[in-house]
Amino acid sequence: MPADTSGPHPEGALEQLALLRTAEGAAALELATSLHTAGVDVLAGLDRLRATVGAELAGPAWGYARLRVRARPVFGADADRLFLTTDTLEQAGRPELAARRAARLLAAGGDEVDSVADLGCAAGTDTIALARAGASVLAVDVDPLARELTAANVEALGLADRVWVVAGDAVELVAAARGGEVANCAAAVLDPARRAGGRRLLDPDRWSPPWSTVVDLLDRVPVTAVKVAPGLDHDRVPEGVEAEWVSVRGSIVEALLWGRAVSSVWRRATVVQDGPAGRTAHELTADADPGHAPTGPVRGWLHEPDPAVIRSGLVSLAAAELEATLVDPTIAYLTSDAPADSPWVTSYRVDEVLPFNLKKLKALLRSRGVGRVTVKKRGSAIEPEELARQLRGPGESSATVVVTRVAGKPTALVCGLP
Ligand SMILES: C[S@@+](CC[C@H](N)C(=O)[O-])C[C@H]1O[C@@H](n2cnc3c(N)ncnc32)[C@H](O)[C@@H]1O
Repeated sequence: MPADTSGPHPEGALEQLALLRTAEGAAALELATSLHTAGVDVLAGLDRLRATVGAELAGPAWGYARLRVRARPVFGADADRLFLTTDTLEQAGRPELAARRAARLLAAGGDEVDSVADLGCAAGTDTIALARAGASVLAVDVDPLARELTAANVEALGLADRVWVVAGDAVELVAAARGGEVANCAAAVLDPARRAGGRRLLDPDRWSPPWSTVVDLLDRVPVTAVKVAPGLDHDRVPEGVEAEWVSVRGSIVEALLWGRAVSSVWRRATVVQDGPAGRTAHELTADADPGHAPTGPVRGWLHEPDPAVIRSGLVSLAAAELEATLVDPTIAYLTSDAPADSPWVTSYRVDEVLPFNLKKLKALLRSRGVGRVTVKKRGSAIEPEELARQLRGPGESSATVVVTRVAGKPTALVCGLP
């Protein structure tokens, strides 16, 4: 059978990985990867592998190759050399963001920092970014398979001379941290496990390591980066610690807390966009809580703030920049007289504003020849896809319907009418 590489680890997972790291294993993986790439199905693939590399290697090679192929869109050329399990692939951040984090951490540490502790390395994707940024890395994990994966990955990428992989409990290491160092390293990265049994752990006290270790680390080691859940409550962010939310193409991808030697602002929203010149990261920052934006009537344009701007509590900065107001004090939609050429928002021309009523909305859309509708909502219980289906009609044109509250009342804003 193919290796089931999702946790808890199946019996023999360590032995299978060791086998795949031999020359025979590498050949088996290469063949398995080419079979996956060619779209060969599991039964035919395993048959071919068994006949060529033997039964012992066939299953594990198929399982790891499957994840290499799955990792390609994110890890590019590295993917075909990485050893990943379902869990560690899910936990791994994007390499370009890991590189950004590593660069900021090392720049803040300056000459004082030559080694970084990666406290919970999983398959080592942060370790790899830190090593590539020039650091020596102490990669720590409680999980033996994680340690073996990290060891295999740094070796495969030619970084083994800069990385030491060790068993350790981050809770204990952080509790013993002294003089700004943890495990003799002057900087640290902590990315607590925030899932268990396939489910998100919403309570940070249940993360592993738990929230108390996050706070402890931020207190004891000033050159630190901690990855947290994007839904983290602002009230939890310790005084003097910068919290950053990062979005890529309109979706939040990570939230970070920066140690006090790295922090330079109160909050930061980093909006990464694809443009003609490639990827660009735009940063909106505030030194202190900027408070709420003013509220006003709906004007000619509606602006939907990027989720990183919303989560970081910086909507009022975007509003000030665009001379925009909120449509409702409790909802993160802005309105102004002009479209915005800004990374912080997406703009929609408002053509009609009506109290939310399905029948009236349908009639309006029909009368304007609209057959396809994109529904957006904020502050409403409607199901966007269900409403879009209900509003579908024979018309050729399309429009966007925004269902929200305006001054407390359920309202539909019809945008982009033909
Ligand atoms: C979210 S993953 C880290 C992902 C990693 N940063 C990456 O980029 O791939 C969390 C890791 O922390 C490890 N871990 C959980 N509790 C730990 C503890 N108390 N001490 C050390 N490692 C721990 C888990 O085994 C898991 O590998």
